[in-house]
Amino acid sequence: MKLVFLGPPGAGKGTQAVEMARRFDVVHASTGDIFRSAVEGDSELGAVVRKYLDNGKLVPDDLTSRVVGGMVLDGESSFILDGFPRTLGQARSLTRMLEERGLELDAVIYFRLDREEAVKRLTGRRVCGECGRNYHVKFMPSAKEGQCDACGGELISRSDSSREVVEQRLEEYEKKTVPVADYYRERGLLKTIDASLPPDRVTEATQDVIEKVVL
Ligand code: AP5
Repeated sequence: MKLVFLGPPGAGKGTQAVEMARRFDVVHASTGDIFRSAVEGDSELGAVVRKYLDNGKLVPDDLTSRVVGGMVLDGESSFILDGFPRTLGQARSLTRMLEERGLELDAVIYFRLDREEAVKRLTGRRVCGECGRNYHVKFMPSAKEGQCDACGGELISRSDSSREVVEQRLEEYEKKTVPVADYYRERGLLKTIDASLPPDRVTEATQDVIEKVVL
């Protein structure tokens, strides 16, 4: 299974990718997670990408594509790419990297959500500082306030969740990522899901699409 999850920041790509990776037993590869752990681990990659993440800007294409090629495509035969590609340059480079390896995508699942809803989701998001599980103060609250249901870790806000950085991320999305949806639509790969539905309905719709294209 080779899938891309595409959509605006806050659409629920990460939430659904974690669940689908568990259900279908495939690798969940999130470029956002890879970059955040590089920053937290003070690695060489982290030092380069930190300023982009902190300002809600996209990391340059050549670096991002190299990371995906080396860390995901070389090692895994079944994967969900969450948050890559998000520019036309990255989409073309993914097509090339897959061709070089004799692989092709099964589908690109596009999580459609309007800007206003995306802002609400991003500013209310909380993440477990221990295991990384996602919550939302209103839409997906933990059973005990401030504490992760899975591991008891403390729930924190992501550093790119301030209103200003969220607006910047959405602008980057509209300018650079919307054309990626057209790129895959023209190739007959795009499957659109209404991401404004409650989480379990989005999960159901995502699973249905995957079963149709892959099984
Ligand atoms: P990344 O981590 O990929 O951030 P993003 O795409 O902005 O996506 P998010 O993680 O914010 O949202 P999501 O769609 O995964 O939603 P989530 O499931 O979390 O990237 C971060 C940064 O890394 C970028 O800004 C950039 O700098 C860099 N980067 C990453 N990839 C790159 C690339 N390819 N090229 C260049 N730079 C790159 O859900 C959001 C919230 O909503 C949560 O609180 C959740 O609980 C809640 N929620 C989820 N589903 C629902 C629902 N159905 N109803 C109600 N609430 C919901």
